[in-house]
Amino acid sequence: MSYETITVEQRDAVTLITLNRPKALNALNSKVLEELTDAFAAYQADSSQLCAVLTGSGDKAFAAGADIKEMSEKAAADFYLEDFFSPWTSEIVKKTRKPWIAAVNGFALGGGCELAMMADFIIASENAKFGQPEIKLGVAPGMGGSQRLTKAIGKSKAMEMCLTGRMMGAEEAERSNLVARVVPHDELLDDAMNTAAQIASMPPMAAIANKEMVNAAFETSLDQGLIIERRIFQILTASEDKKEGMAAFVEKREGKWKGR
Ligand code: CAA
Repeated sequence: MSYETITVEQRDAVTLITLNRPKALNALNSKVLEELTDAFAAYQADSSQLCAVLTGSGDKAFAAGADIKEMSEKAAADFYLEDFFSPWTSEIVKKTRKPWIAAVNGFALGGGCELAMMADFIIASENAKFGQPEIKLGVAPGMGGSQRLTKAIGKSKAMEMCLTGRMMGAEEAERSNLVARVVPHDELLDDAMNTAAQIASMPPMAAIANKEMVNAAFETSLDQGLIIERRIFQILTASEDKKEGMAAFVEKREGKWKGR
């Protein structure tokens, strides 16, 4: 499938998805979100693909937000009736069970920050800048920012960022647990692709299971989360990859995964 606003490339078992509207700082219009939803569904459906990386084209931005020009022409009733943002973003989050990484190479503002926070984790370049500046436009986050940012960095910082619209640099983002790691700008894509390749080399079903249980920590009480963890762990012990992984350890060799 060819796209207008994104590019998709498969490098061995890793899918690289690149937002490709550099002149508009990769602003997320409905076409981008529709194509992203399709690309993530294709990634999820392709059993040869075991990890994905999402990044922005150009040197300046991951994505500078939802497309303000498009939104400026829409009526409130349309936002409401179309359940704006939900048809795309909920699909990506709920249906992508396999792991994916956001490689943030510059501005990640508004919907751009929110999209990055939908990833399983973020690797940021030294140039990355995160923010929820929607308040300056007379609105507020609409793709999960008020919830995911608060869960990631805590109330005080999230509230300050939403109320002032200020940007947070990469170093502060790492210190605040918004990103997993910060790397030199020129090394970002290689670093993210290598990390994705490392994840793709793991037993695939165990990767999905690890993702599912860490995500459960955001949705449940500790007691329920611990039950979910134990049940998933117990299910994995019945997998062929568990038998192979433990045998490979004992026999001092690399495991060969079946993904089941
Ligand atoms: N939507 C549409 N176009 C955008 C855009 C956006 N979010 N962000 C940047 N652009 C466009 C600019 O209009 C400009 O286009 P033209 O050349 O045609 O004028 C081009 O990208 C380059 O941008 P700038 O000239 O502004 O670049 P800069 O380096 O001077 O500034 C910036 C960079 C600080 C990121 C600035 O572009 C900016 O503030 N962008 C808007 C950020 C924002 O408010 N994001 C939140 C959007 S609302 C949202 O996301 C809602 C939600 O919760 C989902």
